[in-house]
Amino acid sequence: MPLVPMGPMLKQAQAGRYGVAAFNMIDYNSARSIVEGAAGLDAPIIVQVSVKTVKHWGYEPIATWVRMLAEGVDIPVALHLDHCSDIEVIKRCIDAGWTAVMFDGSALPFAENVAKSREVYELTQRAGIGLEAEIGAIGGVEDDKFVAEDAAILANFDECVAFCREMPKLAVFAPAIGTAHGFYKGEPKIAYELLGRITAVIDIPIALHGGTGLTEQQFHRCIAGGCAKVNISTMHKHRFIEGFVKLRAEKPKLEEPLPFIASQYEAMKADVVDMIRTFGSAGKARAAAQGAAA
Ligand code: 13P
Repeated sequence: MPLVPMGPMLKQAQAGRYGVAAFNMIDYNSARSIVEGAAGLDAPIIVQVSVKTVKHWGYEPIATWVRMLAEGVDIPVALHLDHCSDIEVIKRCIDAGWTAVMFDGSALPFAENVAKSREVYELTQRAGIGLEAEIGAIGGVEDDKFVAEDAAILANFDECVAFCREMPKLAVFAPAIGTAHGFYKGEPKIAYELLGRITAVIDIPIALHGGTGLTEQQFHRCIAGGCAKVNISTMHKHRFIEGFVKLRAEKPKLEEPLPFIASQYEAMKADVVDMIRTFGSAGKARAAAQGAAA
């Protein structure tokens, strides 16, 4: 089916208390493993792209690959831009056919983050696509952004309320709740109580960043608490590399490249399938598609 905007599928997920997986794609093979992994489980899916990856491949190639993949399956697929602080990049993604974008103004003073996020909100509302916006500071490395562990800041509750009041039709809201990008060095301290306070008064699906390395129990608790979009990037990148390295170690003399691509595909897809099962979105494609059409 054609690419769908992200908001309605996340509203369905929020109501049904399951999580839609959002994987950061790397190349065509990775996008294919994400879309086909989800299609095999009849699950809605978000293919998200880091700015660095967009700049590596170009806007049109990525939009074309993901659009083609989506049109070949019977599940709702959204194409989303991950953490982006550059409004020009956002505009180019919208023009190329992205169905959702994230504006990340979390490094800005609060008032400026609100003003810039609102500017992007207007753009996305006009284009009929979804917007994700963040407040607080999610720790770790994502794309070219690094937030040291001691610099990570939980979202301020009053700011969350004020921020979302300005943008009531946000597709998904990303408050920093103690999770971090990359592999966790210690036990993550997830602020479940803050998540609960936010979802008690804000009726917008929540994004869970920093999915790599969380336990099944942590995923389930966050999803039950209102997280409807669950981000996985680092683990997917590792599967991409491991898929190649494993076959290289097994067959050092192999000269044909296609088996390496197939091995990467299988490694990435196995993880996609595993995460979708964990997040409870298997079999939810129809409900999500109806939400998207509403
Ligand atoms: P991980 O790299 O920890 O999986 O986090 C992904 C993410 O939140 C992308 O925005």
